[in-house]
Amino acid sequence: MLHIAVFASGRGSNLQAIHSAIASGHLDADLRLVLSNHTDAAALSWAAAQGIPTVHLRYDAKDGGGDILELLHDHGADFIALAGYLKLIPAHVVRAFRHRIVNIHPALLPSFGGPGMYGRHVHTAVLAAGVKVSGATVHLVDEEYDRGPIVRQECVPVEEGDTAETLAARVLEVEHRIFPEALQLFAQDRVKVADGRVFISQ
Ligand code: GAR
Repeated sequence: MLHIAVFASGRGSNLQAIHSAIASGHLDADLRLVLSNHTDAAALSWAAAQGIPTVHLRYDAKDGGGDILELLHDHGADFIALAGYLKLIPAHVVRAFRHRIVNIHPALLPSFGGPGMYGRHVHTAVLAAGVKVSGATVHLVDEEYDRGPIVRQECVPVEEGDTAETLAARVLEVEHRIFPEALQLFAQDRVKVADGRVFISQ
């Protein structure tokens, strides 16, 4: 069973998907905490309305984010899910939670990732590149944006009439399914990492 802290900067639809998967028994976990770097993030107000503890995190990655580990410890969180979280996770948190932090990204990494590649910007870049498939990626988090061994990935087609919004909606549907599924692999202790790759045991 995972005790998850979700970090979210915005709307929180992936947070809601995780919550639904727990409620329906598809994910063996509980939500210990929702953290955001924005006081007005919809994810925070939604979580508060569900009775999930929420924290507005004021940190600058440069200060080492000293209080994050304390917060996680105080709430009994042993796993971190980044669900639309736009700040870099401080290195000492990555070290303390090595292979226990996952991120969802709305494209097929390692393409269309990195600093500044979030939300709509990702889909705009995908359309500008003219690629015929996009998708969603769940990966382990390391010290860089959108890097780290890939846990799950799924494609969607890029249609000729797509706008960033229509493509985002198609990708988001996949995100809502594969993020809880990927978390369940951790809950079942089926994820092993070797040579920078993820291996899923049966
Ligand atoms: C999601 O599409 C997520 O993949 C993306 O932000 C959106 C958050 O939506 N994350 C990134 O772009 C990270 N680089 P949500 O708040 O509704 O879950």
